[in-house]
Amino acid sequence: MQTSILGLLRHVSLSLSISLFFSVVSLISHRLAYLQALRFYGSYNVTVKDIRVINSPQTHIKFDSCDGVKVRNISILSPPYSPNTDGIHLQNTQDAEICDSYIENGDDCVSVQTGSSNLAIHDITCDGGHGISVGGLGRGQTQACVSNITVQDVVIRNSQNGVRIKTWQGGFGSVRSVTYKNIFVVNISNPIIIDQFYCDGTKCKNQSSAVQVSGINYHNIRGTYSKSSPLHFACSDTVPCTSISLAQVVLLPQHGYYVDDPFCWNIYGNSETPTIPPLHCLQHGTPPSKGIKQSSIDDSC
Ligand SMILES: *[C@@H]1O[C@H](CO)[C@@H](O)[C@H](O)[C@H]1NC(C)=O
Ligand SMILES: *[C@@H]1O[C@H](CO)[C@@H](O)[C@H](O)[C@H]1NC(C)=O
Ligand SMILES: *[C@@H]1O[C@H](CO)[C@@H](O)[C@H](O)[C@H]1NC(C)=O
Ligand SMILES: *[C@@H]1O[C@H](CO)[C@@H](O)[C@H](O)[C@H]1NC(C)=O
Ligand SMILES: *[C@@H]1O[C@H](CO)[C@@H](O)[C@H](O)[C@H]1NC(C)=O
Repeated sequence: MQTSILGLLRHVSLSLSISLFFSVVSLISHRLAYLQALRFYGSYNVTVKDIRVINSPQTHIKFDSCDGVKVRNISILSPPYSPNTDGIHLQNTQDAEICDSYIENGDDCVSVQTGSSNLAIHDITCDGGHGISVGGLGRGQTQACVSNITVQDVVIRNSQNGVRIKTWQGGFGSVRSVTYKNIFVVNISNPIIIDQFYCDGTKCKNQSSAVQVSGINYHNIRGTYSKSSPLHFACSDTVPCTSISLAQVVLLPQHGYYVDDPFCWNIYGNSETPTIPPLHCLQHGTPPSKGIKQSSIDDSC
């Protein structure tokens, strides 16, 4: 039961100027999971440009199992209070470039899911919503593999998160080589966050396996936070976050109090320049190897 306008497309270059408007009024809840405005599945070398997508019932544009994607000069518009309205959602997709676009919505601005690699996201503005997210990965003990993602020259404002990596406990696999560079944030609750205890409202038990997070670089991230967690790194007890590097991170309160004790749990790496607020809780170098579950490191991604 797919409501995709465009399903299986190959060798397609799409240049449309359309506005899509959907009414959710008559929709019954079990169909909601399928309600993306545009979905590309199993497509190669797809270009989507010069369009506006407005008020999708859920995800606005989804790429699933695609290779070679270019998204340029698009705008996505839906209200900040509209749930599950991801802007651009990528899963099992390689070699994608998303640029020169404006996304205003109520969920992730760009959502990167398992099986995605070699992504370049640059020169975009995100407003409202939940910021640029990798994950949630590893739900229901599944394997997740995400690597080589660059997010550069991006403005994120009035959002719950800035740049976020979130994984469920009990998963396996890895997130590797993610670079966030020149990110300007305005009025963000959590500008920088890694959460390996992600749990979607339901009760989640602590589990020993986790999707490994390593090689994450934050370079020149500036702006303001609205709540009390400018930097939040909650990494797994058994599979710590490693090779996390920060440089030129300057985050100031939008109003109210300056936070001088950012949250860290099991995070290893280095700060090339002092961050504001200072991240004293970052552990230097690499974690002691004892206690780290080998099976989680040999993740076969
Ligand atoms: C996609 O584009 C690349 C680079 O232009 C080309 O090498 C490749 O053959 C194309 N793939 C398909 C399936 O056409
Ligand atoms: C971007 O897309 C809009 C349509 O949404 C179009 O009017 C405009 O000319 C495009 N800009 C460029 C530089 O192609
Ligand atoms: C990483 O992805 C970029 C595209 O965003 C690509 O040009 C580059 O070759 C990739 N690097 C590796 C090591 O695969
Ligand atoms: C700050 O962002 C929140 C959403 O996180 C929004 O409700 C609020 O209006 C924004 N404040 C300003 C001054 O724009
Ligand atoms: C799960 O583990 C975290 C980190 O060790 C701890 O803070 C939390 O209390 C644990 N939760 C439960 C339900 O045991």
